[in-house]
Amino acid sequence: MEYSASHSPSSGALSSSLTEQEHAAVNEAINALKSKAGALLPVLHHIQGTLKYVPPSAVPVIAKGLNLSDADVHGVISFYHEFRHSPPGANVIQICRAESCQSMGSRSLEQHACSRLGIDYHQTTTDNNFTLEPVYCLGNCMNSPSVRVNDQIYGEMTDEEFDLLLNGLLTQVIEVQLP
Ligand code: FES
Repeated sequence: MEYSASHSPSSGALSSSLTEQEHAAVNEAINALKSKAGALLPVLHHIQGTLKYVPPSAVPVIAKGLNLSDADVHGVISFYHEFRHSPPGANVIQICRAESCQSMGSRSLEQHACSRLGIDYHQTTTDNNFTLEPVYCLGNCMNSPSVRVNDQIYGEMTDEEFDLLLNGLLTQVIEVQLP
């Protein structure tokens, strides 16, 4: 199956307001964590844990809730690349770009993955099935190169195994879509 990119989650176009669900997630994170020292990062992780992304429109809400400036919040979100700005696809595929994995061929693997999916890092396929992200060490260096798909880590990944993994995920997607 050929894929193409639908959007870049990291492009970060500002939306005008938060949805009800986004608002609830943001407020829950702030209320649960605002009394902690250095609450900003935990709040951002909490929001992403709930929504799978941090809405750009949440920046002023977070800033106000934590007595910070919008620039403070925006700066941290921009610095840590793991924070997404929009919802990811149904499956998030992360390829490790850290040293051990690079030495075992992750650069070649990521080229294969980009070609196979028709997207680059921080993009999602048009069918919304896959988002591709870089990651920097998954703690699985002994089995480099490593890939994480959603919550599962796979080691010693080859192009062929990546294709098998993708086919397996596609089968799951089709099964979920069937009545
Ligand atoms: S360097 Fe890739 S898992 Fe550690």
